[in-house]
Amino acid sequence: MTNSINSCTILDLPKIHNRAGNITALENNISLPFEIKRVYFLYDVPGGECRGGHAHKELEQLIVAVSGAFDVMIDDGNEKKVIHLNRPFRGLHIVPGIWRELLNFSSGAICLVLASALYQESDYIRNYTDFLNFKIK
Ligand code: TYD
Repeated sequence: MTNSINSCTILDLPKIHNRAGNITALENNISLPFEIKRVYFLYDVPGGECRGGHAHKELEQLIVAVSGAFDVMIDDGNEKKVIHLNRPFRGLHIVPGIWRELLNFSSGAICLVLASALYQESDYIRNYTDFLNFKIK
């Protein structure tokens, strides 16, 4: 699996603005690089907690800080990078084969995740050594 962290990009999401506030709408095959099969969100993350700590073999995700802020550490086995997400109109596209950790959640932060497939435990790599072995295959 040759995907590198450079394949993970920040997408500027559409924003409809008026004086009463903003709307960001995401539509399949228009504003996203994959078809959405699942949506989930992380919330009530206690201060100092870390989520993620795994990679996916095939799943693609778009991660958005719809409220508050957090950091996403991405790692392709060679190189790591930390991306700070703090805007609801900005999404981090994570391609398959990338180890990720989500950390430094602000109080009340909500992490929205759009995913390209239904939940499947067999798509997870939860052990870092297994991840490195997967990368050299
Ligand atoms: P996990 O993806 O490991 O959480 P995180 O990466 O945020 O730390 O999922 C935690 C638990 O929730 C695990 O037991 C599987 C379950 N889960 C589902 O049942 N469906 C889902 O869509 C997700 C994302 C998790």
